[in-house]
Amino acid sequence: MIKCVIMDLEEIQAPVKDLLDESNSFLEKELRSNINLVNRIRHDTPIIKGKKIRSTLLFLLAGSGNILTRDLPGIAASLEMLHLSSLIHDDIIDNSEYRRGEKTLNFNFGNFISVLWGDFLFITSLNIFNDIDKKFTDIILKSARLMIEGQLLEAENTSNYEIEMETYYDIIKKKTSALFAGIGEIASSLNGASARTTKGFHDFGLNFGTMFQISDDMLDIFSENSGKDRFRDLKEGKITFPIILLLKNNARHLVENFSEDNKDALLNLLHEYKIKQSSMLQIKEYYGKCASFLDGFPDSIYKKSLLKLLNFVTYRDY
Ligand code: IPE
Ligand code: IPE
Ligand code: MG
Ligand code: MG
Ligand code: MG
Repeated sequence: MIKCVIMDLEEIQAPVKDLLDESNSFLEKELRSNINLVNRIRHDTPIIKGKKIRSTLLFLLAGSGNILTRDLPGIAASLEMLHLSSLIHDDIIDNSEYRRGEKTLNFNFGNFISVLWGDFLFITSLNIFNDIDKKFTDIILKSARLMIEGQLLEAENTSNYEIEMETYYDIIKKKTSALFAGIGEIASSLNGASARTTKGFHDFGLNFGTMFQISDDMLDIFSENSGKDRFRDLKEGKITFPIILLLKNNARHLVENFSEDNKDALLNLLHEYKIKQSSMLQIKEYYGKCASFLDGFPDSIYKKSLLKLLNFVTYRDY
């Protein structure tokens, strides 16, 4: 049974706190520049803020396998950099105004600067992976390509109110889970794992990313604490998991004409059809898949935190 307790992220991250701090310093240092504009961007946008879920996952997986190597902070910093680059481009695509509780880069500096900064972070991240070990670049290039494909597929399905669940899953497995799958592969390659084990880690990452994105889709509708614009997906015609469920219940008119003015009607309908509960059931299915993979790990503080992390992703409101 999953306990309904929202885990505190700080507590989950406690066993890898030093690694997270080291990786933050790495990130800060790598982005130092003598270009004034870069320093303004760094000053005005949250670079090292964010939950650091990807780094945390990498460190905890590595800790569980007893492979806390000295390359880990650098690898994590480049993962976060790649992730941030995808967020910056995503905020342009989604017309978002808020990110990590602050105004987005595109809001403050415009799309032109944001495209460049996103590219800069992306390439810098790949450079770092290359310097650490080319095998990581190979893994991450695969993930990055899929992430972009996912965004393209999502764009193709904008305002597609007849979207199939299968297409939705295809989108999120690419745009979000692919990076988590890459993290699983990196963790397993640190251990020199066989192809069979690598697949297990890869699939764990895919399942983790899938539950992460379904829960992110719920934040868009239900959370006032996400640090991002609420209802942005609905306003942009992004048909997310809870909305697909709602559309099966004759709600097309409301979804299609969504605005802040009719949000209460939409929230009532979501309530009436118990969409929150059904979405949670789906997340818990993925929780189960992730937890059974972790069953095979020996007991440790890292494994304990991994289980708490699954719990956090399930019940989070940011
Ligand atoms: C947001 O990711 C983008 C998704 C893939 C859903 P996070 O929720 O991990 O963003 P930060 O890094 O904590 O801001
Ligand atoms: C995540 O999708 C896309 C990325 C992988 C960057 P969203 O568009 O839902 O992410 P948020 O909600 O803006 O963070
Ligand atoms: Mg977005
Ligand atoms: Mg998006
Ligand atoms: Mg979202």
